[in-house]
Amino acid sequence: MAEHPFHVEVLAKLDPDETDAVALLAERSTEHDGVRPLSEHVSLHLRHGGDEGVRHLLAYGDGRGNLPHLAGYAHLDVTDEVAGSSAEVVVDPAWRRLGVGRLLVDAVRAETPDGRLRLWAHGESPAASGLAASLGFAKARELMQLRRSLSAPLPPAEVPAGVTVRAFVPAADDEAWVALNSVIFAQHPEQGAITHADLSRRLDEPWFDAAGFFLAEREGTLVGYHWTKVHGGQPIVHTHDAHGPHTHDAHGHEPLGEVYVVGVQPSERGTGLGTALILLGLHHLRSAGLLQAMLYVDADNTAAIAAYRRLGFTHWDSDVQFRSPM
Ligand SMILES: CC(C)(COP(=O)(O)OP(=O)(O)OC[C@H]1O[C@@H](n2cnc3c(N)ncnc32)[C@H](O)[C@@H]1OP(=O)(O)O)[C@@H](O)C(=O)NCCC(=O)NCCS
Repeated sequence: MAEHPFHVEVLAKLDPDETDAVALLAERSTEHDGVRPLSEHVSLHLRHGGDEGVRHLLAYGDGRGNLPHLAGYAHLDVTDEVAGSSAEVVVDPAWRRLGVGRLLVDAVRAETPDGRLRLWAHGESPAASGLAASLGFAKARELMQLRRSLSAPLPPAEVPAGVTVRAFVPAADDEAWVALNSVIFAQHPEQGAITHADLSRRLDEPWFDAAGFFLAEREGTLVGYHWTKVHGGQPIVHTHDAHGPHTHDAHGHEPLGEVYVVGVQPSERGTGLGTALILLGLHHLRSAGLLQAMLYVDADNTAAIAAYRRLGFTHWDSDVQFRSPM
C-alpha cells in the first residue's frame, strides 16, 4: 500500500479513555479469534498502570465509515537489555488486512533502542505467522507456560548426599555462577551466553532477591542453581489515607512466583538434584506468601516438561515468539 489512512501515536501512559478503547479492541479481537491477543501481564498493566520502559502505540483510522477509531494497538517493553525489546500487537478485526499490523510493527521497531524485537503471539494463528513472515521475522521459540498451586501439598526437598544448598551472594558468587551457567546451558543460545554484565543488570532489578536464588555446592564447587522470581510483588507502594496505612503492589495483581531458571551441571544430573532445587525454590515462594508458581519451558523440551508434570505443574497456555531479522 503506497499510502495508508492511518497514523500511529506513541505514548508512555494511556489515559482512561485510551485504556478503555484498547480494552474494547482486545475484547473484539478475542471474540473474533477465540484467543486473547494480549498476555495477562500486559492486560493487567493496561488496567493498573505498569512498569517504566513501556510504550503504547495506537494506530488510528481516518474516522471514515462506522469502523472503530482505534484500528490497532501495540505494547512495547524495552526494559530487557539482554534479550532485546519485546512487543505484542493486535489489530481490530474490522481493520485487518489493510496494513495496520505491518505499520504498527514498523513503528514498534523504530522505538526500540537497537532494532532488535521479539514479537509475541498467543496461540499460533496463520495471521500472526503471516504477518511475521511478511516482515522477515522468524519463529524463534514456542514457550509453554506451566502453573502449579502452592496451596497444594508440596513434597519435601531431598538434596543428594554430599551436596549443600545456600543462597547466592552477589559479587562473591558472580564469576563462579556465570561459569557454571555457561556449562549447564552450553546448548542454549540465550541462557548459555549470559555474561557477567548481564548478571549484574539482573541483580540490580527491583525484583532481585538473593534469598530466592539457591546455589548447590559439592565440596565448595557450584554444581547447580535455582533462581526464583516474584512477579507483581514489587515495588510495594506504601500509602496512607483516612483508613490507615496500605500496601499494594504497582502491578495490581496477585503476585506470582516463577521458577525463573534452574540448572544442574551435567556430571550431577540424574541424582535428583534438579528436583530438590525446584522444590526448595517452591517452598521458598510458598513461605513468601505466594499462592501460585509458574514457569516457562520450551515446547520441545520434553524431559523438562515431564519433570515439571511430576511436580504437579500443568499446561496454562502457549506463546510463540518471532524474532526480527538482524
Ligand atoms: C496478526 C495481526 C496483527 C495482523 O494484522 P493486520 O493489520 O491484519 O496485518 P497487515 O494487514 O499489516 O498484513 C501484513 C501481512 O501479513 C500477512 N497476513 C496478515 N494476515 C494474514 C492472514 N490472516 N493469513 C495469512 N497472512 C496474513 C500478509 O502477508 C499481509 O500482507 P498482505 O495483506 O499484503 O498479503 C492481526 O491478525 C491480529 O491482530 N491478530 C490477533 C493478534 C495476534 O495474533 N498478534 C500477534 C502478531 S505477531
